[in-house]
Amino acid sequence: MLSDDVILGRLDSAVTAARNAGDHILNQDISGIRVSPKGLNDSVSETDFAVEEMISDYLREHHPEDGFFGEEQGESGTGNGEGGRWIVDPIDGTDNYIRGIPNFTVSIAYEDHSGRLALGVVFNPVQKELFTGVMGSGAFLNGNPINVSGVTDPSDAVSIIAPPRKNHERTSDYFRLMEDIFLHTRDVRRFGSAAQDLCYVACGRVDAYYEMGLHYYDIAAGMVILSEAGGRYSAFSDSEVLTEDGNILATNGNLQDWYSEKIHDTMGA
Ligand code: 2AM
Ligand code: CA
Repeated sequence: MLSDDVILGRLDSAVTAARNAGDHILNQDISGIRVSPKGLNDSVSETDFAVEEMISDYLREHHPEDGFFGEEQGESGTGNGEGGRWIVDPIDGTDNYIRGIPNFTVSIAYEDHSGRLALGVVFNPVQKELFTGVMGSGAFLNGNPINVSGVTDPSDAVSIIAPPRKNHERTSDYFRLMEDIFLHTRDVRRFGSAAQDLCYVACGRVDAYYEMGLHYYDIAAGMVILSEAGGRYSAFSDSEVLTEDGNILATNGNLQDWYSEKIHDTMGA
């Protein structure tokens, strides 16, 4: 168990690193940014690399004992083994960023020495929304406590959806699932930053979110924020490992079983 001082120090560092990253991102002229392909339907911009380096430099300087794992650098530093580990997505929602759509975030999580998630920070620099969560101490949006919605009836629910762009072979299953959910709930949305999507469930703007094929750095910070806001998350099925398969279902808690059954029925998960 980490002391409060250690955790608050790490939270301060994560918030400063995320805000500095946000300033840097907003100072770029996106019309001149170089973008390279990264994989199927996946791209990376030069800003992603620059921002990850800024964040890792800052965190290494202030916490040399910690390890570092980032989307662009991978596992790039182990610290001196006495600290925990940072998990960083410099720009979550790069496709939105390079098109000037204001739904992208900087996502920073911290795991303690035994690999347990201890805190998460998700920052949308355009909308100036800073989501924070510390295990056992609640979740906040710009310093104000947040909670998941109280919706219990699926017909009142709004879900964030995200087509399976990495899992094209699951497309028809996925759209059957979406059709089923759409027909039994109020509406759906698609924003394009997994970290922010989890925070939107956490603050009650939506009631559920599901997506396939994500990476740990996309969701680590949002997982802390969501669970501290009273929500629940799980893999699509008991046979999957969330942090490896990356198929996440996140809800306000009340609706977890309902969505989980829909996923089971349509995806066979
Ligand atoms: P990124 O912007 O950091 O790449 C949007 O649906 C979410 O999926 C974002 O969090 C995005 O993270 C992630 N993502 C982008 N391309 C992806 C891909 N090819 N496979 C899986 N996830 C992807
Ligand atoms: Ca990401």
